[in-house]
Amino acid sequence: MTRTQVVIVGAGPSGLLLSQLLDREGIATIVLERQAQRYVEARIRAGLLEQGTVDLLIEAGVGERLQRECLVHDGFEMAFEGRVHRIDLKGLAGKQVTIYGQTEIQKDLGDARLAAGSDLRYEASNVAIHDFGGARPRVTFIHQGRPQELECDFVAGCDGYHGVCRASVPADAVRTYERVYPFGWLGIIANVRPVAHELVYANHERGFALCSMRSSGRVRYYVQCPLEDKVEDWSDDRFWDELARRLPAEHATRIQTGPSVEKSIAPLRSFVAEPMRFGRLLLAGDAAHIVPPTGAKGLNLAVSDVFYLHEALRDFYRERAERPLEEYSGRCLRRIWKAERFSWWMTQQLHRFPGDAFAARMQETELQYLFESVAAQTSLAENYVGLPLEYSHDSRRTHAAA
Ligand code: FAD
Ligand code: PHB
Repeated sequence: MTRTQVVIVGAGPSGLLLSQLLDREGIATIVLERQAQRYVEARIRAGLLEQGTVDLLIEAGVGERLQRECLVHDGFEMAFEGRVHRIDLKGLAGKQVTIYGQTEIQKDLGDARLAAGSDLRYEASNVAIHDFGGARPRVTFIHQGRPQELECDFVAGCDGYHGVCRASVPADAVRTYERVYPFGWLGIIANVRPVAHELVYANHERGFALCSMRSSGRVRYYVQCPLEDKVEDWSDDRFWDELARRLPAEHATRIQTGPSVEKSIAPLRSFVAEPMRFGRLLLAGDAAHIVPPTGAKGLNLAVSDVFYLHEALRDFYRERAERPLEEYSGRCLRRIWKAERFSWWMTQQLHRFPGDAFAARMQETELQYLFESVAAQTSLAENYVGLPLEYSHDSRRTHAAA
């Protein structure tokens, strides 16, 4: 049986970043991933990074291409009732946001792990975790056709919402909170010029639309759609037509159309599992929580969990300190719940929820108030750019706030 210090289940951004940070502390990891590397690196997901996320990626040694290729935005636009309002993030909250695709982060992390000669096993099936209530957890799996077993000090559950780690915890040890929204997002990628320099979020009577981007020549656009819709229901022409109808005229006339290079539908969900530590099993990222993408918080939360987790493990190996491990769940959850609140609020304000006339008037009033009130815009900006990380007392990092 092979021994290592930390077995990481999942090679998404959480798992690879944790492996990268622990490696820099001299802590040995083995990463087990169910999918093939090509599949993991092609998944189109997040695109908007908080400054704290960018700082941590740079500190982890994977920020070089990010800094060269990213776009930095000082604000974003919100369209409602035919008018466009700009939220001045830099002016109101003193911070900017960064556009850089999760696919690129995934590649940068994958390359860095490969260069470091790390033990990363793709296409590992039947992963099962055992004995995490004691001091010697074990992980069994099948890799390259052979059953294998690892013994470790800790298991990091970085295996996303559908992973095996949270599912292995006894039902009475975990409490979950959930809200499923009655619609999805149809998203496309196309190699065309963005409609605007910054992101545009639109609340329209036909439903929500978002114009995001990956670069000055590649857009990521979304429209709210019924949950029952299938990608095949949406030809490119239908998508471009629907997007144009939902945007105010000044943006609609600037849409540059082109063939989609990716098209997918994602359901929207809020979900939190508490706690995030079960003995020697620690969950991080989407394995423990999901936010609807409206607030662009999912990847950013995964990164802040990993920051806290690497600190706790670092302190354990340096000085056998148990306290940071005990505090891990609470530190993460304080930040997670605030991001859950913000993502729920953004989703509530920007989508159309059919059949509730009172809620529709509340939404209309909330948006009118937001556009008239600098205080309300400041609150939105403060949350959108990302709330600060809590630093442990002995953290070597000197940032006042991430
Ligand atoms: P994942 O990326 O889900 O990685 C988990 C990994 O574990 C996967 O590779 C999976 O294959 C593997 N795995 C699962 N089960 C097993 C198993 N049994 N054994 C081994 N491996 C396993 N977030 C933002 O911050 N900003 C945004 O702009 C944003 N936009 C988004 C847009 C969309 C359309 C979507 C769907 C999400 C968006 N997100 C955004 C959320 C963000 O993509 C996720 O929060 C992020 O991917 C979480 O990373 P993770 O590593 O925790 O989980
Ligand atoms: C994205 O670019 O995919 C994106 C950006 C902002 C959001 C959600 C998704 O709020």
